[in-house]
Amino acid sequence: EAAEKGGYDTYMLKEIYEQPQALTNTLIGRLHDDTGEVNLDINLDPSSFKRISIIACGTAFYAGLVGEYLIEQLARIPVEVDVASEYRYRDPLVSEHTLAIVVSQSGETIDTLEALREAKKFGARTLGVINAKGSSMTRELDDTLYIHAGPEIGVASTKAYTSMVSAFVMLALWLGRARGTLSEEQGTELLHAARSLPRLVEEALSPERVARIKEVAEKYAHARDYLFLGRGVNSPTAYEGALKLKEISYIHAEAYAAGEMKHGPIALIDANLPVAVIATESRLLEKTISNVQEVRARAGRVILFLSDGDTENARHGDDVIYVPRAHEMVSPVVNAVAMQLLAYFTATALGKDVDKPRNLAKSVTVE
Ligand code: G6P
Repeated sequence: EAAEKGGYDTYMLKEIYEQPQALTNTLIGRLHDDTGEVNLDINLDPSSFKRISIIACGTAFYAGLVGEYLIEQLARIPVEVDVASEYRYRDPLVSEHTLAIVVSQSGETIDTLEALREAKKFGARTLGVINAKGSSMTRELDDTLYIHAGPEIGVASTKAYTSMVSAFVMLALWLGRARGTLSEEQGTELLHAARSLPRLVEEALSPERVARIKEVAEKYAHARDYLFLGRGVNSPTAYEGALKLKEISYIHAEAYAAGEMKHGPIALIDANLPVAVIATESRLLEKTISNVQEVRARAGRVILFLSDGDTENARHGDDVIYVPRAHEMVSPVVNAVAMQLLAYFTATALGKDVDKPRNLAKSVTVE
């Protein structure tokens, strides 16, 4: 087993470090710098549907939420996202004008598989964003966009998540191009941003950055609760950050879109509550910072994730973690890596077995 972990203490850490390679594999051959072409090798006709329904569970569901944001923003198609266990039973509005996208690392999660069957029954066209080759879902899907992240053993998903999000970046770009909702220039800019992801994630995993996150994680490892905040395309990053922390450290964590905090969770804030805030470069950065000020005014302890070079906003955090600067639409990939490391080092500081968290299974094949 030690050999399989390739010198790392855990599968999870190994898989965190595999992300630059996993992302290279997700993107390779699909984005072409010279021609600006996106080739996803799927048969889907981008004009054959009027709405998109994204369906998934767990971490894959959060990847789907990023997908919703990207597709609506860049391709201007209405998207809804459902947890698969709800979709199956809510009598969803689905027809032959629907594209149902299921997202799954294993391709075996029963709720997602059954939701896929439900969508098909009503005539939806189906596309999967899937990691495992030849898995049950892939046999029933019209098209599969494999993420090629490689086998993921750690129960808490890491590289599959960032590869899923990158697959949605490509899909949104492809749809935006096909539907003419993206200018040539925007498309090229996004293509380059996506291409730079393996390098940015490599940078996010530099020894200095990892050591800094470890230091902050250890400082707050004995907190009873944690709050995660983000906005826009990075609100799902906050949800995923909270999920990762819960899964492997067993610290109770909640996550909100930062603007929603004042409508309830603000009541929880006191000097014992660490609040991790994703405040990287974005159109909404100023708004996020004003949410941070609301936290600090109530004595909350702010762990602020800022883009490299943002010294101006550093004063708003009790602890600042810098992450590589990325195009806003691809930043959830880079920021997720920081979330993974925060959860990882919190759990290890508490002596938890991160590869086998209690009560969780890698893939849930019973309802
Ligand atoms: C399980 C795992 C989660 C995962 C979810 C969906 O609950 O513990 O980490 O996100 O299943 O898995 P899938 O294979 O469909 O992505």
